[in-house]
Amino acid sequence: ATPCVAGVQPRAKPSRAGPITASLRVVTPAFRRADNVQLRSVRSSAAPQGRTLGATVEAKNVALLGAAGGIGQPLALLLKLNPQITELRLYDIANVKGVAADLSHINTSVKVSGHTGPDELGAALTGADLVIIPAGVPRKPGMTRDDLFNINAGIVKTLATGVAQHAPGAILNIISNPVNSTVPIAAETLKAAGVYDKRKVLGVTTLDVVRAETFVAEAKGLDVVDVQVPVIGGHAGETILPLLSQATPPVAFSKAEAAALTQRIQNAGTEVVEAKAGAGSATLSMAYAAARFAESVLLALNGEKDVVECTFVESDVHPDFKFFASKVVLGPNGVEDFLPLGELSPAEQAGLDGMNELLTKNIKTGIEFANKA
Ligand SMILES: NC(=O)c1ccc[n+]([C@@H]2O[C@H](COP(=O)([O-])OP(=O)(O)OC[C@H]3O[C@@H](n4cnc5c(N)ncnc54)[C@H](O)[C@@H]3O)[C@@H](O)[C@H]2O)c1
Repeated sequence: ATPCVAGVQPRAKPSRAGPITASLRVVTPAFRRADNVQLRSVRSSAAPQGRTLGATVEAKNVALLGAAGGIGQPLALLLKLNPQITELRLYDIANVKGVAADLSHINTSVKVSGHTGPDELGAALTGADLVIIPAGVPRKPGMTRDDLFNINAGIVKTLATGVAQHAPGAILNIISNPVNSTVPIAAETLKAAGVYDKRKVLGVTTLDVVRAETFVAEAKGLDVVDVQVPVIGGHAGETILPLLSQATPPVAFSKAEAAALTQRIQNAGTEVVEAKAGAGSATLSMAYAAARFAESVLLALNGEKDVVECTFVESDVHPDFKFFASKVVLGPNGVEDFLPLGELSPAEQAGLDGMNELLTKNIKTGIEFANKA
């Protein structure tokens, strides 16, 4: 089996060593790089005393919209620990000043501020380099991500309008579900405002990757830090397609094992929704995944080369889908390059063909919502 995407070799030793991982592992250990990357070790003005970062670091401002929520709060905590961040602006429609006050007592160099309601959205966004959006309602048992559409679509449209006005050059990381539709909504909203850059509107699908890597490591008795699994397609049900045949290190699964594992990864969100029994969906693992993705975006903004993540973004990778999740190389302007899908197993190819109807519909729904009056 071909173990990885063409052009990118699996790392012999994933990011265990090296100055970045030495300093940031505590926050989000496993950001993904292509192989053969030589890390430069440059003291950062933003890094706490004695720490080094792997790139020439110019610290960045981050706005987190929906910061008082189940994802927002633990994500804010993880971001408060990231020495690449200068200012962390927390925005929500309620209860966010207390979260900001609480976090501001932590002795890291990140400056935290709280902003409540539409009148304070501008202050949260002005000067932001990265805007992360987990605002919205989560699933309850029995709901699909699509069931959230009516509420979250409006929230994302409103917040994207704010971004267009106050932070038009920022990179967006969209967490609010259904991601397959909210990313097209944000894209169309920014387009209508004349400030859309398709490299910068990124749907966060990192939790699918994190889950795939955890489950593969558990199934094969591997150290999870060593495991990488690309996940392509989208972020709902059958559109979540883990490419187990491209896992590194290479792992062998029988057809039945691969099918069961794929199904578990696709339904992992529902596993959490059911276990929480009405108290929401994944928040802690999602916060971790979003912090890992943000860390990768910030490293790339700071000039780190060959930072690779999967993300749901406007894309030419698959001719049928205007938006698609796949492996991309991140750079100072967001997505710099798309990596080829590589060789798929027959079951993965069937999964890719099988998601066509749902993913096309999700994307269309988002575009139509954004463009209706
Ligand atoms: N991308 C993923 O993999 C993934 C994973 C899990 C959850 N999610 C999604 O993330 C979203 C948030 O989940 P959660 O568990 O944190 O929900 P939550 O209800 O705990 O928190 C949402 C927060 O958004 C705030 N909010 C609502 N409207 C807002 C607005 N107009 N402006 C700013 N803030 C607003 C709420 O006040 C609340 O604090 C949901 O849509 C959920 O489905 C995505």
